[in-house]
Amino acid sequence: MNTFARDLPTRYGVVAMTLHWLIAAAIITNIIVVLAAPEDHSPEQTAMMSFHMALGLTVLVLSILRLVWRWLNPVPPPPQDLAPWMRIAGTAMHHLLYFLMVAIPLAGWLMVSASHFTPSWFGLFAWPAFPGFGGLDNAAGHQWHETFESIHITLGWAMIVLVPAHIAAALYHHFLRQNNVLLRMLPGIRLRRGA
Ligand code: HEM
Ligand code: HEM
Repeated sequence: MNTFARDLPTRYGVVAMTLHWLIAAAIITNIIVVLAAPEDHSPEQTAMMSFHMALGLTVLVLSILRLVWRWLNPVPPPPQDLAPWMRIAGTAMHHLLYFLMVAIPLAGWLMVSASHFTPSWFGLFAWPAFPGFGGLDNAAGHQWHETFESIHITLGWAMIVLVPAHIAAALYHHFLRQNNVLLRMLPGIRLRRGA
């Protein structure tokens, strides 16, 4: 595979960048949609929540692809001149974001599967129930629904708090430390020399 697609020691490759920005746009859109949705059982709420579920399930698939790609392609290391605590904090934040990128939509899928609701993937096909959860009886289904609903909402709010912190860190690197951390995640941008 050519070096354009792969991650290099100095910058992310086009596959990692494309997945990062697609997933970021989808998650931010999904958070805006769910927070803007009315809670009145109107057709508008149904449409917005159907969109939320379809986009969220897409995030689950893209995030798994991103993790497989990352496993096959080691990512560029943090800048050399960072204090050890900053390197650790950055890596920990990225791992936490990966956890949330998978756990939030997974909990959403488990939540709706337990209550026998079948989401539609943008009207194209019916998304199957999570294996083992589609056939639960009503009492067990209700209990699992409640559990995964709490997990989904709690982790969803953790993402709402962490994304601005992640963006602030990217801007801190770019404008205050003037290194290549942001530039190496942007396609077609020349890196700063010696940074
Ligand atoms: C990118 C992935 C996702 C994110 C970031 C996300 C985020 C959220 C957040 C923050 C809430 C709580 C909103 C509030 O407090 O009013 C929520 C609610 C909800 N989400 Fe998601 N979600 C995602 C994926 C999914 C998926 C894949 C499903 C189902 C297939 C789903 C189904 C729901 C439902 C049904 C609710 C309403 C829960 C309730 O209030 O009872 N979400 N989501
Ligand atoms: C929901 C939104 C977002 C999520 C879930 C997210 C998640 C992630 C994750 C998991 C990584 C680690 C990549 C890896 O090393 O494998 C990463 C890297 C990065 N993200 Fe985001 N991101 C989001 C939005 C943004 C935005 C809006 C910006 C721009 C300000 C941004 C800038 C960056 C940069 C510059 C890196 C590279 C860091 C480095 O080279 O060490 N991200 N992001």
